[in-house]
Amino acid sequence: MRILILGSGGREHAFAWKINQSNHCTRLFVAPGNSGTSTIAENINISITDFEAIKSLVIDQNIDMVIVGPEDPLVLGIHDFFLNDPQLKNVAVIGPEKAAAQLEGSKEFAKAFMMRHNIPTAAYQAFHKNNIEEGYAFLETLKPPYVLKADGLAAGKGVLILNELSEAKSELKKMLLDAKFGEASSKVVIEEFLDGIELSCFVLTDGENYKILPTAKDYKRIGEGDTGLNTGGMGAVSPVPFANNILMQKVEERIVKPTVEGLKKDNLPYKGFIFIGLINVRNEPKVIEYNVRMGDPETEVVLPRLKNDLVEIFQAIHQQTLDEISIEIDSRAATTVMLVSGGYPEAYEKGKEIKGIDDVEDSILFHAGANLVDGKVLTTGGRVMAITSYGDTYKEAIKKSYQSISKLCFDKMYFRKDIGFDL
Ligand code: AMP
Ligand code: GLY
Repeated sequence: MRILILGSGGREHAFAWKINQSNHCTRLFVAPGNSGTSTIAENINISITDFEAIKSLVIDQNIDMVIVGPEDPLVLGIHDFFLNDPQLKNVAVIGPEKAAAQLEGSKEFAKAFMMRHNIPTAAYQAFHKNNIEEGYAFLETLKPPYVLKADGLAAGKGVLILNELSEAKSELKKMLLDAKFGEASSKVVIEEFLDGIELSCFVLTDGENYKILPTAKDYKRIGEGDTGLNTGGMGAVSPVPFANNILMQKVEERIVKPTVEGLKKDNLPYKGFIFIGLINVRNEPKVIEYNVRMGDPETEVVLPRLKNDLVEIFQAIHQQTLDEISIEIDSRAATTVMLVSGGYPEAYEKGKEIKGIDDVEDSILFHAGANLVDGKVLTTGGRVMAITSYGDTYKEAIKKSYQSISKLCFDKMYFRKDIGFDL
């Protein structure tokens, strides 16, 4: 099979690393890719939302399967674009169709879906600029902290958690009337604050059957002790020690099954990953959000633990025979620590040479915001590289990741030194 992966992060390097191990893959392309994918696949410099350019590539290179890394192309309807094109309709696309991608593309859609299918989540109401007064009144009925969410995609920045009622009202106004997050905040979901510890559950579905992948926990804040600004994710651990069988059974019965059944009942075609952001509130799992893709950096700890041939899984998803696959998981723990550019998630410098890559032996380096220029690996983004290690325990794995990091450096390199601190 000739396979194309769309995206350029650590997640896509991890997909390429895993697919590269499959005998079913004869040629692998990544668009646009990074320095990591360039060593195991062919990078093609096109935009992941330029569907016409993707079409040309798929036809020119006779591509059989497309794996969509990030959410944007899915929310814009890349799967539908393939299905509606006579030349592309037989290509296997891993990722949901546009209607189902709304689970990530619209918070209100996701909340209404959960309500309709009795899936546990925080109580909520949605508001737009014409009923902002009702929004203020709804805030007055809630206890702090207040959770405000831009309805649409806002590059991970659209959720605000505020302690003061006055602040919550003023932010609601900024979102609805002053377009704080552009079009994404023309609608705002206000919801009950849930107090608990978060984890992520990853589900594969072919629209009929599902399989649950290992759990993972990511560390979203920039600062140690989970402080400071939100980032795309600073590290991850899999499995999640507190996700025991009792909790996971509740997750499967109350959340995973009704989600897959709900997609079917609502006629929302789905062939791909469902990433369910959960919060464990006194041993009661509740859904914080759905994403219609894998997580980054969670992929960098989940895929290394998957023993199956990933291409066989994707073929089964395409052919709707996922029930015939039995998922096999490595019993070892995997952890990853993200190296980022100093200043991230705010302004940061690029073009710094990353040194020491060849000296790392005990970890897998998944490149993210990094590119090969004249034989040197240079930083190109905020999140630069994920350092993944295995261990009999997560503590042992984390120790290895930090030992490997001691061999790596670039100007203003930063990473969190406390990944796994709360477990
Ligand atoms: P989201 O983009 O929906 O994942 O939200 C970003 C982050 O905000 C989550 O990872 C949680 O840490 C936090 N969050 C979202 N919704 C709630 C809620 N209802 N209660 C508490 N924290 C929340
Ligand atoms: N690490 C969180 C995400 O991928 O959305």
